[in-house]
Amino acid sequence: MGRIAEEKIDEIRNRTDIVEVVSSYLPLKHSGVNHQGLCPFHQEKTPSFNVNSARQIFHCFGCGVGGNVFSFLMRMEGMSFPDAVRRLGEKVGVEVEEEAVSPDEIRRREERERIMRINEVAGGFYHQLLLEDEAGVLGRRYLRQRGYEGETVRAFKLGFAPEGWETLAKHLADKNFSSGDVQKAGLVRPGKQDRGHYDLCRNRLLFPIHDLQGQMVAFGGRVLDDSLPKYINSPETAVYHKGQTLYGLYQARDAMRHSGEALVVEGYFDVLALHRAGFSGTVATCGTALTADHARLLKRYADKILLVFDADTAGRKATVRAMDALLPVGLAVSVVAMPVGEDPDSLIKAEGEDGFRNCLDAARPVLEVFIEDQLRINDQSVEGRARAAEQALERIRRLPGDLERSLYLQRLAELTNLDVELLKSKVSGGSLVQASPRRPVAQSLSARRPLTETGQTQKYLLRLMLIDDQQRCRVREEGTEGLFLDDLFRGLADYLLGCENEDGQLPEDLFDASLDEAQQSLLASLKFQEDQQWADNPEKILTDCRLAVSKYLLKQRLKEVGRLEEEARNSNDEAALMQYLRERIEINQKLKKKL
Ligand code: CTP
Ligand code: MN
Repeated sequence: MGRIAEEKIDEIRNRTDIVEVVSSYLPLKHSGVNHQGLCPFHQEKTPSFNVNSARQIFHCFGCGVGGNVFSFLMRMEGMSFPDAVRRLGEKVGVEVEEEAVSPDEIRRREERERIMRINEVAGGFYHQLLLEDEAGVLGRRYLRQRGYEGETVRAFKLGFAPEGWETLAKHLADKNFSSGDVQKAGLVRPGKQDRGHYDLCRNRLLFPIHDLQGQMVAFGGRVLDDSLPKYINSPETAVYHKGQTLYGLYQARDAMRHSGEALVVEGYFDVLALHRAGFSGTVATCGTALTADHARLLKRYADKILLVFDADTAGRKATVRAMDALLPVGLAVSVVAMPVGEDPDSLIKAEGEDGFRNCLDAARPVLEVFIEDQLRINDQSVEGRARAAEQALERIRRLPGDLERSLYLQRLAELTNLDVELLKSKVSGGSLVQASPRRPVAQSLSARRPLTETGQTQKYLLRLMLIDDQQRCRVREEGTEGLFLDDLFRGLADYLLGCENEDGQLPEDLFDASLDEAQQSLLASLKFQEDQQWADNPEKILTDCRLAVSKYLLKQRLKEVGRLEEEARNSNDEAALMQYLRERIEINQKLKKKL
């Protein structure tokens, strides 16, 4: 991969004004040293979104996001870092040529561009046919029958692939695209023997799938009658990855950002129906299960997800898979139950928007629904309930919030009649053992261990590191592992240490593509409070941080020792038992002294 040269990035940043860039998305008002506005990343009525011109950073005191001008664009447009740099570069007239791009990479990139272009031309062609061409009359009739007219057709750039084996293939050949490229774009298939390539979709209504820049990258095509297969979808290509793409997100993301909610449905038509009915924050997966990548994508725009899947076995399975992808990234997830045999499109047709709204109002937290399902599936014996609880605990363990975990444990205890303390011990037992082989795959996907209560102290230390070169030097010498208990904070501390120049000072702009979103937001919030940063007692901050880590480690060991003790008792190993007993007492004394 080619990298953009650091100097270029600096140059672009220096020529850009974050206030101007942000202002092109939302109105900002001057307020003291900052500019303020309504946060575009969460729903609010009073402005807590701040842009600081002097530091060229933004930070929302409401939802905590923040960063520099590149981070802003990345969030706002769903762009990668290089794309954000390039975009701003274009604006301020700095051309970004990249260093050391291998010939292979250049070839790949050019191919991707050709495939993009082919999709765009094909999509435009199909769209035009549906809108006004003689050949599109069947598609128009079908859509009208289902109640969809021009506006939806335009918003989603729907298209129609007419009868005939080579309609698209010919059109693209006329435009001088090679059949090899068209095949790589997934739009045609090679014919048998000497026959040429034939179109993937014939006599089908087409749903183009857009990327976050609004470019078409793939298509789903539906038959106009009951023949099978009902849908044909583009295969994965160099520009299309189903696991990272959500149908309708391009059209839905503004609405999501404003309401903070995303509806996830099963079908293309459901997206259209809900969009038309005013529920614009709706997306569908493209014929696959919801992945962790989808979850992270959604989290950029919403914090609450409503799952609207069919009321059949497949729908329930999809719900569980979606839950397992969504909960670990910290999204609140609810289930919207559909009447049996209906999907949002058919429900709205039968009962109108109000019918659907009633379902929405009755949405319930997914985990609660899941626990009840598990209790129903398993029998009512103690064992059956334990099995159900085990399934639920596996999910509760992955919730990133302490509070939520504890609430669900209580609920689980109520529903299963099992002791809440027992359930609690099971949850903490499972998540504290690092890299336990029993840990479910999805857990490694949850970005980080949840933050501990000593977060505030660690933040103080990070602030110290920002303003005081000497203290930063001490942190370096002492090592971040012994001072920062939480991964998030330690990660940022390590990063800051890595930023120092030869004189041991931090550069003016600290934001970098290597920081993830949480780290960027944290850094911005710290920078925003720089003026109020004082540290009357750095010594105490360091001591407190150190203590938090050692206390945590001692508590870990205590748990371990408890287990070892039990083992020794079971195997009648007197000597070992004595040794662990002694250790336990020692640890308890140490812990007490420190409190
Ligand atoms: N799907 C698919 N391939 C199929 C069937 C379904 O990719 N052969 C995907 C499509 O994305 C489809 C979704 O699964 O939109 C849901 O399928 P289904 O409920 O059968 O279709 P609907 O979207 O409800 O379409 P319609 O209302 O036209 O029947
Ligand atoms: Mn349907």
